[in-house]
Amino acid sequence: MDRYAVIGNPISHSKSPRIHGLFAAQTGQALTYEALLGPLDAFTATVQAFRAAGGKGLNVTVPFKLEAFDLADRHTPRAQAAGAVNTLVFGTDGILGDNTDGAGILRDITVNQACPVEGRRVLLLGAGGAARGTVLPLLEAAPASLVIANRTASKAAELADEFASFGLLRPRGCGLAELAGQRFDVVINATSASLSDAAPDLPAGLYAPGSLAYDMMYGKGDTPFLRSARAQGAAHLSDGLGMLVEQAAESFTLWRGVRPATAPVLALLRASL
Ligand code: ATR
Repeated sequence: MDRYAVIGNPISHSKSPRIHGLFAAQTGQALTYEALLGPLDAFTATVQAFRAAGGKGLNVTVPFKLEAFDLADRHTPRAQAAGAVNTLVFGTDGILGDNTDGAGILRDITVNQACPVEGRRVLLLGAGGAARGTVLPLLEAAPASLVIANRTASKAAELADEFASFGLLRPRGCGLAELAGQRFDVVINATSASLSDAAPDLPAGLYAPGSLAYDMMYGKGDTPFLRSARAQGAAHLSDGLGMLVEQAAESFTLWRGVRPATAPVLALLRASL
């Protein structure tokens, strides 16, 4: 049977083995998918050992996405833009590095939430790895505008500048306070604030009528960002559980050439949060 795994540290909490197991059962693909604990000082050796033992591909999670980028021999354009890799494909011609996170969130927003991005005003909060991976897929979805706002304004400006030469819409970068007076149709929280049970400190009145507030984090109940978005009048709220399932589906499709249906898997995961 073809072997796949997710590598990270820590890894025991990962939902990826369950998600890919459900995908495999649903599509009739004969494969195994396990969780691999990567020692912090031996990522490459662990990957190479998995590959030598017959592994066909890996998902990569915290803290190894940059090391995975360096390890790959070739990169997809979206992995290149993200500067990080969450999916490795072991082929006869070397290791391909891809990044399916951005495609995952776009699909969750536009398909699962039925919220269009094209022609709408989008705000991306954060300028770390999670935000970076989302910029190219967002720009490719042709929003009317994209503002990247971060607590440290200079990092948002740098990230926006990096995408100025892509021949797509030019994103604008700014600090959080500079958002005052602006309105958005889609607001995506790509900060890690929820990890410390906080929400980014945002000016009031950012949410346009009918707007979506999307948090890449998820948990039981609303995240702090979603709680504040609700209080601020966002019309639609979504956490990032769908993004998790959609990025997995994108990796599965890359490996197996078959796209699994995500709705039943998302429903099962939601029920067991
Ligand atoms: P990740 O890979 O998850 O994006 P990261 O690269 O460490 O993690 O980036 C964390 C992001 O969350 C940064 O944009 C950070 O803002 P700063 O650049 O100003 O540090 C943002 N962040 C973390 N905690 C935050 C908080 N309480 N309020 C607002 N932004 C926060």
